[in-house]
Amino acid sequence: MSLTRPDLDALPAYVPGRSVPGAIKLASNEVPYGPLPGVVDAVTAAIEGVHRYPDMGVTALRERLAARLGVAPERIATGCGSVALFEHLFRVTCLPGDEVVYPWRSFEAYPIIAATTAATSVRVPNTADHAHDLDAMAAAITERTRLVIVCSPNNPTGTAVRKADLDAFLDKVPANVLVALDEAYREFVTDPDVPDGLVEYGDRPNVVVLRTLSKAWGLAGLRVGYLIGTPEVAGAVRKVVTPFSTSLAAQAAALAALDAEDEMLRRVALITAERSRVVEAVRKVYPEVPETQGNFFWLPLGDQAAEFAAQCERAGVIVRAFQGDGVRVTLGTPEENDAFLGAL
Ligand SMILES: Cc1ncc(COP(=O)(O)O)c(C=O)c1O
Repeated sequence: MSLTRPDLDALPAYVPGRSVPGAIKLASNEVPYGPLPGVVDAVTAAIEGVHRYPDMGVTALRERLAARLGVAPERIATGCGSVALFEHLFRVTCLPGDEVVYPWRSFEAYPIIAATTAATSVRVPNTADHAHDLDAMAAAITERTRLVIVCSPNNPTGTAVRKADLDAFLDKVPANVLVALDEAYREFVTDPDVPDGLVEYGDRPNVVVLRTLSKAWGLAGLRVGYLIGTPEVAGAVRKVVTPFSTSLAAQAAALAALDAEDEMLRRVALITAERSRVVEAVRKVYPEVPETQGNFFWLPLGDQAAEFAAQCERAGVIVRAFQGDGVRVTLGTPEENDAFLGAL
């Protein structure tokens, strides 16, 4: 007799990028340059207070984000990474049998969250060039649909949705369906045709934008994500959030990181320059690498994905295989990227 739900056996586990001592890790879409200046001091100072609970309202951080983004703090909710915010969003939108439409392949947490909340997954296959099929996604919306996810840049394929296409898509989504724009990699976007979800669509009541401090801001290990929606949607998320899940250290670190925006931008520019160099080199071997606006790129290797990753690992470079589909490679320092190119 099982003490847990029988359907969990069929659930794919979230696979983190592997860390192997001594190996170069290009498997988790992290930025390689260490914490931003000020973060270590802020966390060290915050540690003195860890016998107390943190501010449950995350007031200072929400106010800082609000000022930076030009919105009211009531429109912001924070969570233990934006992955947790997705879980909360599923909870506040879906009753049993309600549907969540999302592209596939995309962020692997979406189906896992759907399977353990009331939501039913409706996956819409990407186009042949690994981008969202927005027409098919719009066509997949039914009377049961409560939530639609647009992931741009898309993890793991790197492709991004252009403004004209997203305008047309959003116009087709009924007003009673929430659209979650997952912009975890927004800071790495260099194509001006890729819209900033908050700037372009922030005034639409059925749009919520999710971002994270894990990637460009270098706080993956402390877990700070945030969303911007209407006061109603953000308030609903704050209601169901696991209490105190934006920890004391996370709140302090996030405030310090946001103070170091110039350095964040400098580091992002290093990564996007490397992106151009490395993708061009990789395309000489694998011309089918799709465009990428993230800090990673996609090798659509199908059934060869696991073997490719295993060979990279033998050469001391850890990449992320999605067997049957492809391999995602995170951009690291120039030396790390050269090690990958050597392995390739
Ligand atoms: C597309 C996308 N969304 C959200 C997340 C969640 O990031 P975090 O929970 O670290 O904020 C990730 C992390 O890999 C991601 O790739």
